[in-house]
Amino acid sequence: MKGLKTFYICSECQYKTPKWMGKCPNCGAWNSFVEDVEEAPATASAPAPRRVSMIPTGEHRTVRFEELEIPEYLRQITGLGELDRVLGGGLVSGSVVLLSGEPGIGKSTLLMQICDALGDTRRVLYVSGEESGGQLKLRAKRLGIVGKNLYILTETNIEKILQEADKTKPDVIIIDSIQTVYSSGVNSTPGSVTQVKEAALTLINKAKGEGTSVIMVGHVNKEGSIAGPKVLEHMVDAVLYFEGERQQAYRIIRAIKNRYGPTNEIGVFEMTDRGLEEVENPSEMLLAGRPRSISGNCAVCTIEGTRPLIAEIQALVTQTAFPAPRRTTNGIDYNRMCLIIAVLEKRLGLKFWQNDVYLNVVGGLRLDEPASDVSVAMALISSMTDRVVPDDLIAIGELGLAGECRAVSNLEQRVREAARLGFAQAVVPFRNLEKRKPDIPGIRLIPIKGIYETLNLLQKQE
Ligand SMILES: Nc1ncnc2c1ncn2[C@@H]1O[C@H](COP(=O)(O)OP(=O)(O)OP(=O)(O)O)[C@@H](O)[C@H]1O
Ligand SMILES: [Mg+2]
Repeated sequence: MKGLKTFYICSECQYKTPKWMGKCPNCGAWNSFVEDVEEAPATASAPAPRRVSMIPTGEHRTVRFEELEIPEYLRQITGLGELDRVLGGGLVSGSVVLLSGEPGIGKSTLLMQICDALGDTRRVLYVSGEESGGQLKLRAKRLGIVGKNLYILTETNIEKILQEADKTKPDVIIIDSIQTVYSSGVNSTPGSVTQVKEAALTLINKAKGEGTSVIMVGHVNKEGSIAGPKVLEHMVDAVLYFEGERQQAYRIIRAIKNRYGPTNEIGVFEMTDRGLEEVENPSEMLLAGRPRSISGNCAVCTIEGTRPLIAEIQALVTQTAFPAPRRTTNGIDYNRMCLIIAVLEKRLGLKFWQNDVYLNVVGGLRLDEPASDVSVAMALISSMTDRVVPDDLIAIGELGLAGECRAVSNLEQRVREAARLGFAQAVVPFRNLEKRKPDIPGIRLIPIKGIYETLNLLQKQE
């Protein structure tokens, strides 16, 4: 077609090239190029491309900083406490939220439940490009959702969606999913980078102009990042990831970005046949069914946002049959594990180079904090030596390269949570107790200066 130009675009970094390439020269991603078409640049006679602003109209003028007023963000409580926590206290009017997750993880279920919870006070328009009205009704029946104030639209053309929205006048628009939506003004297939971007921009315009909140689902590709342009993440106000192990019932929702709240909070749900149920006490859930007196297990306390979470680390150290031993991790950074193994080899003389190492955090939790180092190290030592970490012991502390145990933040909060869950001993960094020793009933603190001090805490396996 005249005026159209075919090109290839990297779905990770938006690098453009006229020819397909296997590896992006800009960001180094493999197989990330997708075909797209672009209209020729605007000439004097053709209209200029549409510009989209993320700021409400009428505010485009220079003002003195002192004259600016702090806006009062209107928050709508979604009714799902765990989600409200991740959003920073509810859904902000006029905000655009991108909800992403692997196929079948429960995104549509969560959205349906949000519709139900919001339905008491708000009008919600649920735009589905993937499921028919009947399928949605069937799910709603299973979840026990009546759908008061809920409007369903099975449409994928963004212009038509906006026309319908103008009629329905919803407070919240849900788009399931953004990859199915297309604009007739753009000449490329639905799901392509240009289409996804155009549809998202149109929705952002609507949200910012009219104060309507928009939640859109974004599918993730096999590498786990949101399929489509990375720029989508930059455009929206909040990016939420819904994750979990499909075989297990737990689902964790976390904010990767949030313009209206913190990003370190997580929300925990359990998938049941009646839908997602909030888990108010995740530590109890994560510790449920914990094996007793088995080598390789150690409890850990991590802080997720404002909330301490207790989980369990499991290590399996076995003799290797390979020239290069295997190392796999789940829930812990691979390089961090290698570092801890190197420290244990050098400082304690443990011969990990003869062994395969498998490391797992139970419950699909991800530990990013160095405060879990000592616990990982104790689980590794325990499996290596076939000696058991006492069931009532929890380990907290960061490991230095010299094998020293370094101080951590929020120690008291972590120990209190451990005591609440019935732990009777806590290995803690000596440095944390130098200034003040917290007095927490029911739990004995074992201050350590180095990882070697944990060796005599392990017990013989029965
Ligand atoms: N009858 C049921 N009982 C229990 N769990 C169910 C039942 N039906 C569906 N589920 C759960 O719901 C999940 C599918 O939920 P949902 O359709 O909301 O996921 P999704 O993330 O929207 O998927 P998609 O990527 O296909 O849009 C299933 O993987 C399953 O865990
Ligand atoms: Mg779905």
